Amino acid sequence: MRLIRLTLRHFRNYSSLAFEPAPGLNYLFGPNGAGKTNLLEAIHFLTRLRSFRRASRRVMIGEGQRGMYLRGEFHREGGAGRGVTLEAAVQDHERRYQVNGKEEEDLLSYLDQVHTAVFFPESLQIVKEGPGLRRAFFDRALAAENPAHLAGAREYNRLLAERNRLLKGGADSDILAVWDRRFLKSAARIVARRQRYLGSLRGHLALLERSLASALGQRIEIEYMAEGAGLPGETWERLAAGEEDPEAGAEAALQRSAERLAAEERRRGVTQWGPHLDDFRIRLGARRARGAASQGEQRLLMLALIIAAVGSFRGARGEEPIILLDDLSSELDERRRGDVLGHVAAMGAQVFITSTEGPGPLMGGADAGCFYIEDGVLGAR
Ligand SMILES: Nc1ncnc2c1ncn2[C@@H]1O[C@H](COP(=O)(O)OP(=O)(O)OP(=O)(O)O)[C@@H](O)[C@H]1O
Ligand SMILES: [Mg+2]
Repeated sequence: MRLIRLTLRHFRNYSSLAFEPAPGLNYLFGPNGAGKTNLLEAIHFLTRLRSFRRASRRVMIGEGQRGMYLRGEFHREGGAGRGVTLEAAVQDHERRYQVNGKEEEDLLSYLDQVHTAVFFPESLQIVKEGPGLRRAFFDRALAAENPAHLAGAREYNRLLAERNRLLKGGADSDILAVWDRRFLKSAARIVARRQRYLGSLRGHLALLERSLASALGQRIEIEYMAEGAGLPGETWERLAAGEEDPEAGAEAALQRSAERLAAEERRRGVTQWGPHLDDFRIRLGARRARGAASQGEQRLLMLALIIAAVGSFRGARGEEPIILLDDLSSELDERRRGDVLGHVAAMGAQVFITSTEGPGPLMGGADAGCFYIEDGVLGAR
């Protein structure tokens, strides 16, 4: 997918914007506070209906205004039908989301029209902070290429909440056993999907090792940790070893955890196992990235993960997501900045990249565009 025309009204510091980006790399630069991140946020909001900055809709409406309007015309490459136009209009507490001029009742179908992959400075927390952000990152990426994962995760969360209510209320163990049959299946499906997805990501990471090698310098390894089996330090891969079917393997392991932890959960009144507790361990070379990676290394690592996820998405869906990279190159040295920009420009997807610095000599080419932003006004350079 490529964004060919973006229209904004009263979005953040853009009172009015009409932007026709280039089909390849779009380099957006300008001083602090100019509106660079806001522009990426607008593309993200229009396609994902939420801000990557965790800002509410209210906060995004231009100061002093009661509403905002965003419209994007997207082109689908490769003959697979025509393009799509997305419109999002927010007025006071009302909101309208339209696909090709028609109101969308089903948000999931709106959200499945155009996919975006995003890096923004807070993405680094995925490496540094607790497991919740890592689960969210992998689950989102997985759900983008396989919407069934989103439905599965919703079902799981509902079953988990019910199970916790039962535990808290001291429900009879026979009743709990009935609940657990569905809960186990739902849990095992999530574990198996994540395992399969990680397999795909690893393949794409291995490809990057060749093409982004000089910037990365070290191997990236990811393990899917079975915290949700109540076994810290164990991986799902090892737990399900010997099983043909990862779902059956996960179910058997979860069943054993359920039995082992039954007494403890009754005492605590809250579920002690399940994929909502899992973690992903990321290694850069010999070390755990969480404690050891430098600022620049964390950026390269996240970028590699995002690019691997883009590759996996492309393989699964046969189309390109739009890539948003906010302030990616700060804290990268000159050589790595060049490697990264070169790689990103060669990817073939439409990319939006922001920086406070002007473009280097690498920028150019028929598919690329360079734009200067100041005070919510954008101009070509
Ligand atoms: N709802 C809003 N209405 C009007 N202006 C807003 C609104 N929300 C944020 N702004 C303004 O937008 C500007 C910030 O824009 P943005 O975050 O895009 O900057 P930036 O170009 O990415 O800067 P930096 O280089 O520092 O990251 C600030 O001046 C802020 O006051
Ligand atoms: Mg910014």
